[in-house]
Amino acid sequence: MHNDRIEPAIEMIDLCKSFGTFQAVDHLSLTVQRGEIFGLLGPNGSGKTTTINMISGLSVPTSGEVRVFSYDVRHDVRKIHRLLGAVPQETALYEELTAWANMDFHADIFGIPRKEKRERITRMLKLVQLEDRKDSRVGTFSGGMKRRLALGRALLHDPQLIYLDEPTLGVDVQARRAIWDYILLQREQGKTVLITTNYLEEAQILCDRLAIIDRGKLVAVDTPTHLKQIYGGSVIELETIGQSTASDQLRAIDGVEEVQQDGNHLTITTQGVSGIVPQVIAIIAQKDELRDISVREPNLDEIFLRLTGTALRD
Ligand SMILES: Nc1ncnc2c1ncn2[C@@H]1O[C@H](COP(=O)(O)OP(=O)(O)O)[C@@H](O)[C@H]1O
Ligand SMILES: [Mg+2]
Repeated sequence: MHNDRIEPAIEMIDLCKSFGTFQAVDHLSLTVQRGEIFGLLGPNGSGKTTTINMISGLSVPTSGEVRVFSYDVRHDVRKIHRLLGAVPQETALYEELTAWANMDFHADIFGIPRKEKRERITRMLKLVQLEDRKDSRVGTFSGGMKRRLALGRALLHDPQLIYLDEPTLGVDVQARRAIWDYILLQREQGKTVLITTNYLEEAQILCDRLAIIDRGKLVAVDTPTHLKQIYGGSVIELETIGQSTASDQLRAIDGVEEVQQDGNHLTITTQGVSGIVPQVIAIIAQKDELRDISVREPNLDEIFLRLTGTALRD
């Protein structure tokens, strides 16, 4: 029977995971479309790894459903493994073995034919720029090199869906850039990518859509741009000559959420900016002398704080 509906890459329906009485994932429903880079954004302990482990079958849901390319993770976990390339949070590489041997071992697990194996390993090592280190033991690699090798290994069997759990945690800036480039390349090739992160810059640069999760619960899901438009308002930054005395009056303006003062610098968070700027200028003109004023969109950190009441990183 022909079905015109394109199945999503991942469907989570009312997914729950409890450890004893503690609910790590709490009725999570999400759909990841084919060909997108989807981000799970949340602070440490919010349930990102637990969620991803249920997608790969590593962790059994307490209730709810997970489907990967319409396969049910409870019944078809082997089929799902063929379609899935995993870069787990704890990079599980054999430190005593060389980069090549790690790749070779993985290729055998995935049943990559002997004829293709050498060519594919070479191609992946080239992609992650470790070709010249192929005969070095992984134990001698930096954190960034290990992450890159883990990524190259995950791509070895040409998976349709790649998940990366905190791909750049503890990785230096240069390696981070490189990893971002490999991830973006996957999307160009039509692959679906799911990443977890608590780096806002990473979420902003990579993700087509983001799910914000907090304490195992979905708080919001949308494109980064929409999240800013929907939950954002605007932020007015202003500088006065000398300490401002106007913050209480500014706080009383309709639509102003918060006024933070740091010496002669004020940060005014608003729900929406129409009509607020002139009022701010009028008040400041009465009380202080204005040196500079600017209006910007909120960053994801400010949105996260607004939605959850907690900061993303401490
Ligand atoms: N095997 C486990 N047993 C008990 N608690 C766990 C287990 N795995 C995770 N947790 C708890 O579940 C919560 C979510 O963890 P995790 O999914 O690792 O969060 P994240 O990846 O977002 O940092 C944390 O409070 C963690 O301590
Ligand atoms: Mg985690």
